[in-house]
Amino acid sequence: MLILLKNYECLVLDVIGIGFVLFIIYADADLTLLFYHSLNRPRDFRNKVVWITGASSGIGEYLAYDLVKAGAKLVLSGVNVERLTAVGERCKEVSSCAAEDILLVPFQINNFDVHDDVVNKVLDHFGHIEYLVNNAGISQRADFADIDIAVDHQLFDVNVFGPVNLTRKVLRHFLERKKGHVVVTSSTAGKLGAPYSSAYTGSKHALHGYFECLRSEMVEENIHVTLVCPGPVFSNITDRCVTGKIGEKYDHKQQPTDKKMKTERCSDLMVTAIAYKLDECWICFQPILFMYYMAQYLPSVFRTLIVKFIFNRQRVMKMRQGR
Ligand SMILES: NC(=O)c1ccc[n+]([C@@H]2O[C@H](COP(=O)([O-])OP(=O)(O)OC[C@H]3O[C@@H](n4cnc5c(N)ncnc54)[C@H](OP(=O)(O)O)[C@@H]3O)[C@@H](O)[C@H]2O)c1
Repeated sequence: MLILLKNYECLVLDVIGIGFVLFIIYADADLTLLFYHSLNRPRDFRNKVVWITGASSGIGEYLAYDLVKAGAKLVLSGVNVERLTAVGERCKEVSSCAAEDILLVPFQINNFDVHDDVVNKVLDHFGHIEYLVNNAGISQRADFADIDIAVDHQLFDVNVFGPVNLTRKVLRHFLERKKGHVVVTSSTAGKLGAPYSSAYTGSKHALHGYFECLRSEMVEENIHVTLVCPGPVFSNITDRCVTGKIGEKYDHKQQPTDKKMKTERCSDLMVTAIAYKLDECWICFQPILFMYYMAQYLPSVFRTLIVKFIFNRQRVMKMRQGR
């Protein structure tokens, strides 16, 4: 009996050990998301109206392609009308949607005065909205001490107050319909302090504060909130990354050899998170994924070991640039 029990314990330990090694080598998202993604069920967005901000490039662009293939009707927002038009045309090519199933609504997310008008424009066209994907955003790099307060304002206007204000407008419609789903593209920087990006990190942490509250307030309303936290992903984000001075661009060119996730993969995982209404998901390669787990479940070990002994400037910069 004792020998049988010991064998059973060894087996359990072996399975846990093998599982951990596989996780360290292959996992590119948190285990809940990977579990749902591995079910490989069709994600059905037929006739659902999905509004994506930041749809003119990067993650938002690929989300548009995945969602339109899954049957969604799309509202595509961004600033660059030429890019937005090209994304709209590609959506029609990759799916069998009708021309009127794609609506382009270009606007600056930080121009709060137009939010009522753009919501009305979407409702006039489609009559309803099922999903609002708050994805538009900009990044920032500079030492904490070197950041002008104007840059903090810029980051918060685009990354936080824009999505928050737009969501409030759409929420009225969701509450009337007694259903809706708000998706927010946060970041690793929304969960961990990403060094040398404090304005960006502050803005992404703020999103969690606002949208965690919204989720709690909506538990009885059939309105869902999904916070998506990607690590480094190929997109245009580094090309327009700002510094600590207003109007200054961060001097860094993304390379195809960078260790970043393919935009398609990030979008694919994100669609699963949306389809299964996950509250939060983490999408990134190791070792950042492991850090998420440490910071969430063993915060003292994360701060005393990982932050103190592993986070030096050179390593952090390399990790953030996918090098
Ligand atoms: N790529 C990454 O490594 C990474 C990692 C974690 C989180 N994220 C987050 O993912 C989201 C999408 O970024 P991305 O990586 O796909 O970068 P991206 O290729 O630069 O896309 C950013 C999108 O946001 C739009 N946008 C920027 N400023 C705007 C403004 N003031 N008003 C309206 N739209 C605006 C852009 O529109 P225009 O092009 O038309 O100006 C573009 O469509 C962001 O929230 C970002 O923080 C990215």
